[in-house]
Amino acid sequence: MKLWGGRFTKPTNKLVDEYTASISFDQKLAAFDVQGSLAHVDMLAKCDIISHEDSTTIAKGLKVVAKKISNGEAELTQENEDIHMNIEKLLIDEVGAVGGKLHTGRSRNDQVALDMRLYLRDALVTITQLLDELQHALYQQATANLDTVLPGYTHLQRAQPVLFAHHMLAYVFMFQRDMERIIDSWKRVNRSPLGAGALAGTSFPIDRHYVADQLGFDSVIENSLDAVSDRDFVVEFLADAALITTHLSRLSEELVQWSSAEFNFIELDDAFCTGSSMMPQKKNPDVPELVRGKTGRVVGHLMGMLTTLKGLPLAYNKDMQEDKEGMFDTVETLKGALALFAPMIESMEVKKDNMYEAVVKDYSNATDLADYLVGKNMPFREAHAVVGETVLYSIEQQKYLLDLSLAEFQQFSNAIEADIYDVLAPKAVVNARNVAGGTAKNRVEEQLKQADALFASNQAWISKKAALLEELAIEN
Ligand code: ARG
Repeated sequence: MKLWGGRFTKPTNKLVDEYTASISFDQKLAAFDVQGSLAHVDMLAKCDIISHEDSTTIAKGLKVVAKKISNGEAELTQENEDIHMNIEKLLIDEVGAVGGKLHTGRSRNDQVALDMRLYLRDALVTITQLLDELQHALYQQATANLDTVLPGYTHLQRAQPVLFAHHMLAYVFMFQRDMERIIDSWKRVNRSPLGAGALAGTSFPIDRHYVADQLGFDSVIENSLDAVSDRDFVVEFLADAALITTHLSRLSEELVQWSSAEFNFIELDDAFCTGSSMMPQKKNPDVPELVRGKTGRVVGHLMGMLTTLKGLPLAYNKDMQEDKEGMFDTVETLKGALALFAPMIESMEVKKDNMYEAVVKDYSNATDLADYLVGKNMPFREAHAVVGETVLYSIEQQKYLLDLSLAEFQQFSNAIEADIYDVLAPKAVVNARNVAGGTAKNRVEEQLKQADALFASNQAWISKKAALLEELAIEN
């Protein structure tokens, strides 16, 4: 007999059981469901809604059930539909009819909203930890490459030389925004829906604030209808994840390009590459390629969730069961990518000489020649034209700017003097960008210090939240 079977005269059609059950995927919520139930049953006794004796029996039983589920000893069935009813059924099997008191003053609607928040809270902490590791890997490559010059690109055409440290730091700050978004989302996730019941609240004299407190929530959701209908926190997480994945995808694209023979700027460690079944010489950057590829599914989950929600009236609708697989898959996909990225970045070989060669064998110091002429009082627009002609001449002569003799330079402007060779040297070109946020070495060192401060504040948040979750874990 179903937990809700009383009103029915016929068994459920098998296909309906199969179609509506969520147990195949929501069993991921088991530990969180038990955590929520323990707090709920404790509150029921505290508020004299059930006896302390019953509460203790139920709590003990719940812990046994949790253990059996995690050991794989418990049988989770489709007939019991979802993780909530499976656990309740297992509890009743364990402790007898008294287990049926657990669901007093509660509905699966507030229960599932609670479980999703508890699950996500956990995921947010793990993701910030992984983001932090990735930021540190990028940071470490930056500190190791404070003197490594490579072409910076616009339109994927060599534009102006930059330090490789500067390039790595661009990603550090990009992932910092992701970190801040995740941290900020915590305050919207960490609110308790428990006590909303099915939709309207409950007639029992429960204490919503007490359970919320027991579960480490910052506050209770103000409105019971909103509490059971809201999946904005899922959408928000998926959006944050989509952006993180997009950032990883952009970095992936650079790694793929840089490790091609055409660029030859880096070599990914063998441990992070794979071979070809047919071409013995191949070493493929499969990891960044696959991370780039998986962006599609994460962005897809965001679109899917928004679409699921868009036509839903208040309050709970079964459609909302569709919130789970996309969110679980996003968490797993993101964890997988981030866990690989940090060691892959850390272990990659940076081919400094090839990067330097690409700077020297190019015209990416042309802006500096123009800026030099501006320094000699020539209007920038005029200087731009003069240098354009100089570059054209050099291309025709199969020379780079630094190969031109002073006499050749002076064909284009008499203002050019012998000091031009120092001005156009790669390091000088880089160090000339001595503006806050620029690529000059001292400015890049400044950015490292700024990153240090951000890391310290990230770390303070992460350790505080990790400690909170540890303290709340079921074992305690
Ligand atoms: N498995 C359901 C879900 O994930 C739990 C809530 C079901 N509530 C209900 N009234 N049928 O959404």
